[in-house]
Amino acid sequence: MPEKLRVLTGDTPTGRLHLGHWVGSLENRVLMQNDYECYYLLANLHALTTRAENPAQIQQDTLDIAIDFLCAGIDPKKSCIFVQSDIPAISELAFIFSMLIPFPRLMRNPTIKDEIRDKGLGDSYPFGFLLYPVGQVADILAFRPVLVPVGEDQIPHLEMAREVARRFNQLYCGVDPHTADPLQVDNGGLFPVIEPKLGRVKRLVGTGAPNEQGLLLKMSKSLNNSILLTEDADSVQRKVMGMYTDPKRLKASDPGNIEDNPLWIFHDAFNPDKDWITEAKMRYQKGQIGDVECKKRLVDVLTAFIAPLHEKRVQLEKNMDYVKSVLREGAAKANAIANKTLRLTKEALHQVF
Ligand code: TRP
Repeated sequence: MPEKLRVLTGDTPTGRLHLGHWVGSLENRVLMQNDYECYYLLANLHALTTRAENPAQIQQDTLDIAIDFLCAGIDPKKSCIFVQSDIPAISELAFIFSMLIPFPRLMRNPTIKDEIRDKGLGDSYPFGFLLYPVGQVADILAFRPVLVPVGEDQIPHLEMAREVARRFNQLYCGVDPHTADPLQVDNGGLFPVIEPKLGRVKRLVGTGAPNEQGLLLKMSKSLNNSILLTEDADSVQRKVMGMYTDPKRLKASDPGNIEDNPLWIFHDAFNPDKDWITEAKMRYQKGQIGDVECKKRLVDVLTAFIAPLHEKRVQLEKNMDYVKSVLREGAAKANAIANKTLRLTKEALHQVF
């Protein structure tokens, strides 16, 4: 049996996962388990960068994501789920990699700029906030994966992992700077130049109305517009029935808009019955079918998906010892890999004595 290629990805624990996480990346992770050796990291240290005053909440959020992973079908017998702070080699690697990233390069990272703006961090964010993308490079390279399944906003961070891998391979492993990315390891490089893998829906909208600019906002816990992956059936119903749709739809003179309409975006993303969607959209545009009917259909579709996951969560919450044992076993396996990478890194750097 040839060795399976490795996949690594991570999540900063900010609370329970929602449908946007599913189509953006989680679904890919479940699918990849059979064909790849998968590592799924819970980035609790990264959560400290903006919430250092609330560590107990971070602990809860970390456990919540672990539960959601298990509910969503990540199988701990196939995939390794672990907590970042259980892997000391990652922090050591971050220190080493920080030497290979020019400081102004960090400040040009668009995801960092967006976060500073969106989270209202002003200029009071801690030094550790700027350190986290370096830490993320270490999260990734510690496992020397080939693929990193993520949402679109993570691309700038992944680009940095690619740059560090090339630079390290060139400086310390004698890899010729003109070597193509996929050939770096074959030519003696320690680190593969990873490829991102985006989900089938890059940016799922939330259930709310558009903002002042007329744009539908991304599904996000902080915007109160999300449907959780393990939501109970009553809230699914309430959230879908109250979801924003096209307010002009009922005027006969003004055909229903199916484009910027969460109702149809959600049907497209989650309803497997494509024939029904095609026909219902046609009727919707002609004012021949009501919002309520289409929403009810969506409630059925989402409930069929979410109800078993909700049920699993109820069970797991009663069995937290099991959830914690998954994380402990994950850490043992992850440490073996990350420690080996650290050893090879120090050897390449001539710092083994
Ligand atoms: N920054 C990522 C997020 O907020 C989480 C993350 C941490 C990550 N380490 C990673 C993602 C490594 C991919 C690879 O979602």
